[in-house]
Amino acid sequence: MKKYIAAMDIGTSGCKSIIIDEAGTVVASAAEEYPLYSPRPGWNEQDPDDWWRGAHTSLRAAVVKSGVSADQITVVGLSGQMHGLVAMDNSRRVIRRAFLWNDQRCAKQCAGVIDMFGGVDGILQYTNNNLLAGYQGGKILWLRENEPENYEKMAAALLPKDYVRFKLTGDYATEVSDASGTGFFDVKKRDWAYGLLEKLQIQASLFPRCVESDVITGTVSGEAAELCGLKKGTPVAGGGGDSVIQTTGMGLIEEGILGITVGTAGIVAMGFSQYMYNSGGKLQFFCNNAGDLYHVMGVMLAGGGSYQWHRNNLCRWETEEAKRADLDTYHFIDEAASLSPPGAKRLIYLPYLSGERSPYSDPNLRACFIGLTQTHTKGDMSRAIMESVTYGMRQISMAIQDLKQIGMSHIIVSGGGSYSPLWRQIISDIFQLPVITVSGAKDGGAFGACLVGGVAGGIWGSLREACGVLSEETRNDPNASNREIYDEMFSIYNDVVPALKPIFDRLAAEK
Ligand code: XUL
Repeated sequence: MKKYIAAMDIGTSGCKSIIIDEAGTVVASAAEEYPLYSPRPGWNEQDPDDWWRGAHTSLRAAVVKSGVSADQITVVGLSGQMHGLVAMDNSRRVIRRAFLWNDQRCAKQCAGVIDMFGGVDGILQYTNNNLLAGYQGGKILWLRENEPENYEKMAAALLPKDYVRFKLTGDYATEVSDASGTGFFDVKKRDWAYGLLEKLQIQASLFPRCVESDVITGTVSGEAAELCGLKKGTPVAGGGGDSVIQTTGMGLIEEGILGITVGTAGIVAMGFSQYMYNSGGKLQFFCNNAGDLYHVMGVMLAGGGSYQWHRNNLCRWETEEAKRADLDTYHFIDEAASLSPPGAKRLIYLPYLSGERSPYSDPNLRACFIGLTQTHTKGDMSRAIMESVTYGMRQISMAIQDLKQIGMSHIIVSGGGSYSPLWRQIISDIFQLPVITVSGAKDGGAFGACLVGGVAGGIWGSLREACGVLSEETRNDPNASNREIYDEMFSIYNDVVPALKPIFDRLAAEK
């Protein structure tokens, strides 16, 4: 009997479910959207039951589309948006809407904790990660200060995908990659940071048991099986936080390969075989889905999002042309950008539409073009966006190299931006490294969750073996003659934020 793996990725706009076979071929996929609530600027919430509805509806649709029988689906994998807080009471009911990764309301509480420990380095001793306002930990502190009645009721703090796990299996559990993004996890020990929790007077019993990603945590209940189109008793694997597990789906399970994801964010990541002190807390230093690896990454908040903003606000003509020609708007934007020379006639764009997380952790930074002249065209602006987002990624890769000098063999790219041959070539030229795309990576976290699930379910012996199903789809080699102009533009780019920082602070100041 042929075996299949199902996985769900609980994203921010919706849930995507896929089914793959043992050769790594995606045989069916389905998605279901759900609402996002933003009651105030910087506050972002979702209803955990919407995730569950999105998860079972999309999974059932994928199972039906695949034509695969429920008993051929041997294991379920999970991926999900990281960092959110689902507060559960002692009757295992949700107390309030979940706070999401992009909810910044707890910035004050995080700053307070950092002060209490004498700066970021004081926190790094416990977790090896800065306590970012996006992380779950700060949200717990906010709840304690601002909604004490809800805090009192809280008996468990779950991450988004682990709420779906609970609905599938009836168990509370998490795994190391997502737990790393709570800010309360000792990445070195791959366990909760008990010492830090004690100092903050937070009960360790709030947090679920934590396993490695490729371990089975429970089995699908009868009720959940009915809703999802699965067989009762199907095992559910640990899985992973989306930004980690999607790099596993790209094959990033060896040191020395740089992974770049150009989605709304821009994620630059690498697997580390050793724990390294994350000096200054500039990067996110998490446990990898492979038990013998760490996952080091920097996240730019508006990577592909910058190009999307440009399309939505400055490219009306291209959008209309695209409708007429039944093509993607980016086809026309890229066409004009490809006529602009490398360096975009010395034009720079700063991609800080939402402030920034990496390499600068600074909400006050703002986006802008620098160096516009009469000679510049929209094509130059489009190219400058692609190039400058890539300079930002090169800055992150240098921060990764500062932690540990690792020779880089090549880059694997994924995400919407990787569909652009021009952007792939720009990445290759700016880094002077080969850039490849691989099969499966299009399905992001869901695909990674299938690979991790397949290992947990015994289909593959290890994640390295699982990644053997990936095949190269495109390859771009660096053009050495573009090295000089890109190195020069990169050095100018590096000097811009320090020069403009006082201006950004003044612009960001609320009067
Ligand atoms: C990772 C991060 C996002 C969320 C939402 O640190 O904040 O990738 O996981 O997708």
